[in-house]
Amino acid sequence: VEVIDKFSPNVLVNKHHQLSSKYVPKDLINFQSDDVKGTSKIKANKEVVTAFHKMREAAKEDGKDIVVNSGYRSYADQEETVSYYQNAYGDSYVEKNIAKAGYSEHQTGMSIDVASKNTTVFIDSEEYTWMMDNAYKYGFILRYPKDKEELTGYSYESWHIRYVGKDLAQKIEKSGLTFDEYYARNY
Ligand code: DAL
Ligand code: ZN
Repeated sequence: VEVIDKFSPNVLVNKHHQLSSKYVPKDLINFQSDDVKGTSKIKANKEVVTAFHKMREAAKEDGKDIVVNSGYRSYADQEETVSYYQNAYGDSYVEKNIAKAGYSEHQTGMSIDVASKNTTVFIDSEEYTWMMDNAYKYGFILRYPKDKEELTGYSYESWHIRYVGKDLAQKIEKSGLTFDEYYARNY
């Protein structure tokens, strides 16, 4: 395991690439309250916040309502997240679905969980279908795709997207690879 402590926007974080407890991304800002699902404040890197807002506006024009559910989570936030799910669902659930503190892409400030404003199960929503077709145009990729559990280390998450910028998102989309594979082959 390699431990990363210097901010880098395209950093790879997975079960083999860990962020130090001191890793805090640059330029964290709040999402506009209208872009958020609930009422709590959510932060991410400013480029991510801007790109999400653009994507949301484009989706709106197509009649879809995509909102943010979670963004930047500090090392300490992720410790809390893990302990919540550990108590609620146990170890094996956590192993497949939740990153340990230091191993979460949410600590990069470049990842967000999205939701449909009006549909409870995201994967059943029109917003999900729209996002799968369009997210890369705004610089986002789906980070934990279906049937890639062996490669990503996590269960399929229809809602967790990662900002890598338009150029890289387009390349990754075209390659059909996970970020883990793409990174291993190109960096
Ligand atoms: N659910 C993702 C893997 C995380 O906890 O960062
Ligand atoms: Zn997530």
